[in-house]
Amino acid sequence: MYVELAGAVVLGVVIAVVLLKKKQESLKTQDGWWGVGTPLVSPEDDSIRPFRVETTQEQLEDLHRRIDQTRSFPSLEDSRFHYGFNSSYLRKVVSYWRNDFDWRKQVDKLNRYPHFKTTIEGIDVHYVHAKPKNLPEGVRSVPLMMVHGWPGSFYEFYGILPLLTEPASPEDIAFEVICPSIPGYGFSEAPHKKGFDSVCAARVFHKLMKRLGFSQFYVQGGDWGWLITTNMAQLEPKTVKGLHVNFAPPAKPSLTMMMSVLLGRHFPKLFDFSEHDIKRTFPCVQKLVVDAVKETGYLHIQATKPDTAGRALNDSPVGLAAYILEKFSTWTDHEFTNLEDGGLERKFSLDDLLTNVMIYWTSCSIISSMRFYKENFGKGLDQPHSKIPVIVPTGVAVFPNELMHTPKLWVKQKYHKLVTYTLMARGGHFAAMEEPELLAQDIQMFVKIVEKRM
Ligand SMILES: *[C@@H]1O[C@H](CO)[C@@H](O)[C@H](O)[C@H]1NC(C)=O
Repeated sequence: MYVELAGAVVLGVVIAVVLLKKKQESLKTQDGWWGVGTPLVSPEDDSIRPFRVETTQEQLEDLHRRIDQTRSFPSLEDSRFHYGFNSSYLRKVVSYWRNDFDWRKQVDKLNRYPHFKTTIEGIDVHYVHAKPKNLPEGVRSVPLMMVHGWPGSFYEFYGILPLLTEPASPEDIAFEVICPSIPGYGFSEAPHKKGFDSVCAARVFHKLMKRLGFSQFYVQGGDWGWLITTNMAQLEPKTVKGLHVNFAPPAKPSLTMMMSVLLGRHFPKLFDFSEHDIKRTFPCVQKLVVDAVKETGYLHIQATKPDTAGRALNDSPVGLAAYILEKFSTWTDHEFTNLEDGGLERKFSLDDLLTNVMIYWTSCSIISSMRFYKENFGKGLDQPHSKIPVIVPTGVAVFPNELMHTPKLWVKQKYHKLVTYTLMARGGHFAAMEEPELLAQDIQMFVKIVEKRM
């Protein structure tokens, strides 16, 4: 007993010393080059080239031929979404895709915002650039970069873009929004060399914003977008005026966090725990572990051998749709696994869901998108960015059905200047697509506070 106590005290002192010693440093990085072969010696082509989404008739015919040749396989009776995508519902989705989905119309929608490509570190980076129209005299827009995740794309932001660029109220801020595709996703070229992780993406996106002439701006993201924008804040804290995330999984456990796990249920006030925190943080440990194992198989595959499973998805549109859309079901609401149709059409339209699938299909990007897990997890979980705090003003929108819940106290361990922490009324992982109004409101509130406009 005394030995344990003494051990705990020593441990506490050691941790305290380590914590006190840590200085507020920014993340360091070095230029990379991801093109084919050896790097260019001449300076890089820094032109910005307009881009349009285009699909040829041959590509569409090839897609239809592959859909027609799919080999159906029945799901187990009453298996709903428990074994993955239910095959009866998959048949419906595929039939809609083949017979009713109008890709040409969706392409027109995609091209309603201007797209561009520019070469950074040897690869072509794609982005959408949405500017406010009819700004009144003297009113300046606020630049904001929004970064998507997996298995999403820049299209996730198409519902929120009009709300941010053309806000209804004159009190609201009009944003100029830049939505890049992560290299290897959608229309951004995939890196040709090993090692392209979230910090590399953050560095590339900083270069993109500099090339566009922005010296200071806001960043927003969920899923991988959360990590990339967090890294952007760590790389250049003076350039990033504010960071808004709708996903913030717990950072490296600190002493305070461990104490809160041990004592939080009994002394919630001590740790500033809300009822939602208690409900999400303290199911029995066994349940937490079992749930984590049930829902993270994709992650283990993608973090180890992405190129193997990826080949099947790259050949089969039906397999690709099942693999991607299963996540849009489970990550929107975990209870949706109990429904035959995965609840997909409760929050999304098939047109929007299939447009996201088509972005992966037509750009052949599923394999390179999966590799991003390998590049990030392959280096171990103890990367410098996981140890360095974020010192720029931060806003966190906590959606109740998010995959992981992080109480405010835990968020503060990583994000030292937490300005807003909002428990949102409803919504899950794909917040921008599922609840564009709510997310837009929270971004407005956060930026107004940071800009001292309220
Ligand atoms: C899912 O699909 C199979 C047929 O592929 C069917 O037998 C099963 O009952 C379906 N529905 C549910 C609710 O699991």
